[in-house]
Amino acid sequence: MNSKARITAIGAYVPHKRLLNEDLEKMVDTSDEWIMQRTGMKERRIAGDKEYASTLAFKAIENLIETYNKDLQDIDCIIVATTTPDYVFPSVACQIQDYFKIPHTGAFDLNATCAGFTYGLHLANSLITSGFHRKILVVATETLSKVTDYSDRTTCILFGDGAGAVLVERDEEHSSFIAAHIGTNGEGGMHLYRTSLAATMHEQTLNTNGKMVQNGREVYKWAARTVPLGVKELLHKSELQIHDVDWFVPHSANLRMIESICEKSGFLMEKTLTSVAYMGNTSSASIPLALHLGIEEQKVKNGDTILLYGFGGGLTHLGLIIKWDLSEKN
Ligand code: UT7
Repeated sequence: MNSKARITAIGAYVPHKRLLNEDLEKMVDTSDEWIMQRTGMKERRIAGDKEYASTLAFKAIENLIETYNKDLQDIDCIIVATTTPDYVFPSVACQIQDYFKIPHTGAFDLNATCAGFTYGLHLANSLITSGFHRKILVVATETLSKVTDYSDRTTCILFGDGAGAVLVERDEEHSSFIAAHIGTNGEGGMHLYRTSLAATMHEQTLNTNGKMVQNGREVYKWAARTVPLGVKELLHKSELQIHDVDWFVPHSANLRMIESICEKSGFLMEKTLTSVAYMGNTSSASIPLALHLGIEEQKVKNGDTILLYGFGGGLTHLGLIIKWDLSEKN
């Protein structure tokens, strides 16, 4: 069987509540000037007390259905990328199956932190091209505010909540997937973690308060080194030149870091899409949120070649080159 996989629709959702730099100034020893200069962030969205990863995911999927008039009843696999599921189990993917009453589908969550969305796409492409699946929902949803330590100024200024969803369908003619590059540096796991059962890593004691802990400088150095090499590898594998790429969409971790990655990779900032300024770092959701913004701002168009690059805790990274070719909007 020679099936191809095409991304046909996208949806997104962010909660209404905004957390501004001015609000953070009242919570920790920081300033709007420092945050803007070091991260390019102005605000982030924060989930309500009763909003969880599942709630945000439902809304992003409803947005996809309404915008592209898609029927989800024949979906045969639901993949959810999240580091902040409502429960360890059941998965958010199973909650989605129940909420939308999708009758015959597989459903699972994956944890590849901020690379979760590109992992989900990569898996969906593999499951469809294998011939086993026809229609897969890939969702990235995060409520990082619920695991952020708002007394730690080095992390609490960064993170926000949001969700994105895309549909990947079997197509006889067109494939969205051009190249993939994947990698892991597990020895750097200590630099970004949240504990669950174990209280030590590499024989070192961890902070077990249930909140995220990050050594930002180390993660920054690793990403600024790793992503440009990955970009080079992707261009080599696809036999494309950098000017063939219409849009670069790296994980929206920090605008200064993205500028440094662009400089090293040869991308122009005008050709780079982020969701960082008004949504902060939303981990796995940041790439679909940036793509959705790019569509709303009429930048991203069918026929565009896009390079996505997810990277984060693990440490893990996965880059993809895709061809944008969505179905007609409603
Ligand atoms: O999504 C997963 C992947 N995550 C990332 O990629 C995050 C990567 N890292 C970062 O985004 C940046 O490293 C941070 C934004 C977290 C920090 O920026 P930085 O430019 O690397 O600052 P730094 O950690 O080197 O700290 C510089 C100074 C320190 O003070 P001293 O030691 O020089 O006196 C910090 O204590 O800035 C201080 N600082 C702050 N000052 C005001 C740290 N956080 C703050 C703050 N406000 N919020």
